[in-house]
Amino acid sequence: MNTRIHDFPGQRLLDKAARKALATRMFDDLRDMSRDGPGISRATYGPGETAAMEYCAGIAREEGLAVRYDAAANLVIELVGKDPDAPCIVCGSHLDSVPQGGNYDGAAGVIAGLLAVIRLKRAGIIPERTIRVMALRGEESAWFGLCYLGSSALFGGLAADDLERPHRSEDKTLGAFMKDCGAEIDRISGGEKLIADDEIGAYLELHIEQGPVMVARDWPVAIVTGLRGNIRHGDIRCLGEAGHAGAVPRWLRHDAVLATANLLGRLDEHWRVLLERGLDLVLTAGILTTKPEDHAMSRIPGECGFSLETRSQSIETLETFYQLMRSEADSVCRERGVTFEFDRRSLSSPALMDKGWIDHLLATCEQLSLPAETIPSGAGHDAAVFANAGIPSAMIFVRNEHGSHNPHEAMEIDDFLCGADVLYEAILNPPV
Ligand code: GLV
Ligand code: MN
Ligand code: MN
Repeated sequence: MNTRIHDFPGQRLLDKAARKALATRMFDDLRDMSRDGPGISRATYGPGETAAMEYCAGIAREEGLAVRYDAAANLVIELVGKDPDAPCIVCGSHLDSVPQGGNYDGAAGVIAGLLAVIRLKRAGIIPERTIRVMALRGEESAWFGLCYLGSSALFGGLAADDLERPHRSEDKTLGAFMKDCGAEIDRISGGEKLIADDEIGAYLELHIEQGPVMVARDWPVAIVTGLRGNIRHGDIRCLGEAGHAGAVPRWLRHDAVLATANLLGRLDEHWRVLLERGLDLVLTAGILTTKPEDHAMSRIPGECGFSLETRSQSIETLETFYQLMRSEADSVCRERGVTFEFDRRSLSSPALMDKGWIDHLLATCEQLSLPAETIPSGAGHDAAVFANAGIPSAMIFVRNEHGSHNPHEAMEIDDFLCGADVLYEAILNPPV
């Protein structure tokens, strides 16, 4: 791997060909350092995420940019503005991934931010306000069952018991992983806010679209209007009674798998009805398992574990559906003689993007002769944390094929460069 970036043509002023070469090289290097089976894995507060951060930090240092890690161990790269005390503009995203995921989810936003500050620096442009590129830690819930860890920590949003959450496969807590990465966990577990109230004036995040809409509409870029929130349980246990698969009649069974399937089927039907009423909702049970140690084809399952995630743009819909889920679970318990044990639920609120920045980004798209289109985000992003902390926030989506959270994400580099240009132009002439 070669992180030297002055030695290919296009070079000093980072013209379009040079931006393409640099971005391609960064994506390729990140992929090479994170390969895992068919996809890539960069574990939250783990070695893969840290390696990706150090890689980006190395490039930034080579460019003479200021580099540091904040108290939550997020990577911070800065181009100091003419008024260093004015609230800065953050260009952020994350560098972790789901296990065996794709290379662009998160990394695209960090690389776009990095390209923007390198381009400014090489052109000798000092922006009015400091531009801060942030590679945030732990956006993915896949590793510790909770999302937005690095950004939430900044706003005092992690509780002491969040730090006790176990890793998905290692016998070590989130707090221990964070500490190993240099995070100040005493301050974080005490709910201390790690940034000053007026430190950040705006948060901008470029991200791949993770659904199929932009490909279907033929939009290389789009501007996000708002983000779905979610309510999640990472580990629900259905407890029934194990027994001989041939010997127990139906009326005496307490089959944990059929009870779970019954609950999920009821929820699916409620979901269909709520959609017909025009509500925004998605429902996923991404984990569903009996215990491999004792499950068998010939054994009635006495225990079944599953996760449950609902997402919506409306907090009321999330809460209403959650209460419905709990009452259906009670009903299944009564009818089938099983019990459901719920782990602690997590809630991430939906978020609206800032109207002023949306308009500014749409105008920037027009100025660059790109389609000026808006789109809601079904997926969650750190932008929701910044927006819900009262910071004007906005997102640029880049077209991506084959969805996301799988190894087949496919973003054309030319589409990425369009999105990166929108980001660059937008921060060069910010609306406020
Ligand atoms: C973020 O990766 C999400 O799960 O929406
Ligand atoms: Mn993701
Ligand atoms: Mn992401």
